[in-house]
Amino acid sequence: MAGRIPASFIDELLNRVDIVDLINSRLPLKKGGKDYQACCPFHDEKTPSFTVSREKQFYHCFGCGAHGSAVGFLMEYEQMDFVEAIEELAVREGLQVPREEGQSQGPDYRPLYATLEKAALFYRNQLRTHPEARRAVDYLKLRGLSREVVAEFGIGFAPSGYHNLMNLANGDAEELKRLWVTGMTTESDEGRRYDRFRERIMFPIRNHRGDFIGFGGRLLGEGKPKYLNSPETPVFHKGKELYGLYEARKSVRQLDHLLVVEGYMDVVALAQFGIRNVVATLGTATTTDHLQRLFRAVPEVVFCFDGDRAGRDAGWKALAIALPLMRDGREARFLFLPQGEDPDSLVRQEGVEAFRRRIQTAVPLSRFLFDHLAGQSDTNSAEGRVKLAERAKPLLNQLPEGLFRRMMYRKLSEKVGENIPGANTGTVVKRAKIRPHTSLSTMPPVRRAIALLVNNPAFARAGNLAEGWEYLDVPGIPLLRELLELLRTQPNITTVALLERWRGRSEGRHLAKLAASLLPLPDEGQELEFRETLAHLSSQSGQMEWEALVTKADREGLDESEKQRLSELSREKAKQNSCNDGLEKK
Ligand code: UTP
Ligand code: MN
Repeated sequence: MAGRIPASFIDELLNRVDIVDLINSRLPLKKGGKDYQACCPFHDEKTPSFTVSREKQFYHCFGCGAHGSAVGFLMEYEQMDFVEAIEELAVREGLQVPREEGQSQGPDYRPLYATLEKAALFYRNQLRTHPEARRAVDYLKLRGLSREVVAEFGIGFAPSGYHNLMNLANGDAEELKRLWVTGMTTESDEGRRYDRFRERIMFPIRNHRGDFIGFGGRLLGEGKPKYLNSPETPVFHKGKELYGLYEARKSVRQLDHLLVVEGYMDVVALAQFGIRNVVATLGTATTTDHLQRLFRAVPEVVFCFDGDRAGRDAGWKALAIALPLMRDGREARFLFLPQGEDPDSLVRQEGVEAFRRRIQTAVPLSRFLFDHLAGQSDTNSAEGRVKLAERAKPLLNQLPEGLFRRMMYRKLSEKVGENIPGANTGTVVKRAKIRPHTSLSTMPPVRRAIALLVNNPAFARAGNLAEGWEYLDVPGIPLLRELLELLRTQPNITTVALLERWRGRSEGRHLAKLAASLLPLPDEGQELEFRETLAHLSSQSGQMEWEALVTKADREGLDESEKQRLSELSREKAKQNSCNDGLEKK
């Protein structure tokens, strides 16, 4: 991570993102009036009070008070931090996140990514030009890979020789150090360094943002180890990264599900056959981090395993990892292949249509879970059914609150023939309640002005706004002034972009709450209300100034300019009073 993300980029990003699409891809929304609704993901409820406004680009729950922008939603729902949320939205919109120079936020890994990218380019070039690469090209052909797919995945070739990458560094000590830190070089017992990857087909691994983070290198034939991978480094964590995720998201605009396979070759071979939504774990079992990353990208994940015993066991482990993440709206399914086959061999053997049918008929998590447990106990006997219940309960207990969890308990009850209530796990996030239908008329005027302005940034540009309120010495006035000044210089800023600028500042939460509190009110009349509130504040300010001058006149007398100001204020006051009198007499 490098410098700060410029505020202007966040503004633009929020202008592009549609919060309805974003939330809908995770949590199906239903249209109700001009807004969209769902059961709230942040508290347990049976009737929907979670509302998403396309117009305001804001979500708000009238039940628990949860509210926020697209960024806020990702932070709450996906437990991302702010930067992750911005990066996720940028990936969705196909944008690169720019960084400001200076003030760095955490370590700057860009030089490491650059070193790895240079290595990837080098390997790619070697595949085209190195005399030894003939064997590699032949091998790729033998595996049925086209030039296009090889290019798209950036596949390359590391020729023989112990110092190819090191020579590229040209004696640059910093670059040599980066080759070491990124695991591209390794060390002999005597402490001599040399290139880790030699005589291998090179699969570059990119993170979800597209940065190069490591490599997998395959031997051209038989031998051991078949694959050599980058070691764990500051930028490469096997338990978190997924091979092919970046490429899948790049090639499919609206991904709705991802297939998780075991091997590099499986990802590339399926891509060759037009199945693009595939990722591979990097030679490790599926982790919670993997699954979280997957569910951040798509609502549905299909795991693909060998049909043998080891594959079943791996599937069961993946199920256990998935349970706590199975919120309503998410789906996990399991595909077990015939013994001895992997996706690469199978798609070549039976063709792409047959393989797609397999994906479509993958077993839902619910069925896999109950079938697996039923296989362990005899459900024809009462004892067997008790055993089933005892095994199922700790698993179902891991499911988050919601419809799916209730359905799973109902299913278990049916199988056991006895009602088994789903115990509450207390996974529901408890929130401070805010009064959802905050009445504008009962708000103190400064707060009312701020709420109206945050909800309608365009009001800042309206002409003939009352003046004088700026001098009022009450809380909130500096914030109101700052808001108006910002909005006048940034006329196109939206409510959510405005709120993002205040994220992390003490008034930020307060502003977001005010914005949410007005969400149910009709827009009509809000501008008039805003004008009148400012006018009210201005006259309040005038009154206070008048009082202060009168007091000073009594005690110590006034200088010329103060006398002038007092008579000005007195005239205004008289005008107002006669105006009010007139109104009262009518
Ligand atoms: P596989 O042996 O199934 O690899 O290992 P594959 O992708 O099908 O390769 P081909 O078809 O034989 O060329 C699955 C994954 O396990 C990791 C790699 O990530 C591989 O893609 N692995 C396997 C290693 O890291 N090292 C190894 O020696 C073998
Ligand atoms: Mn294989």
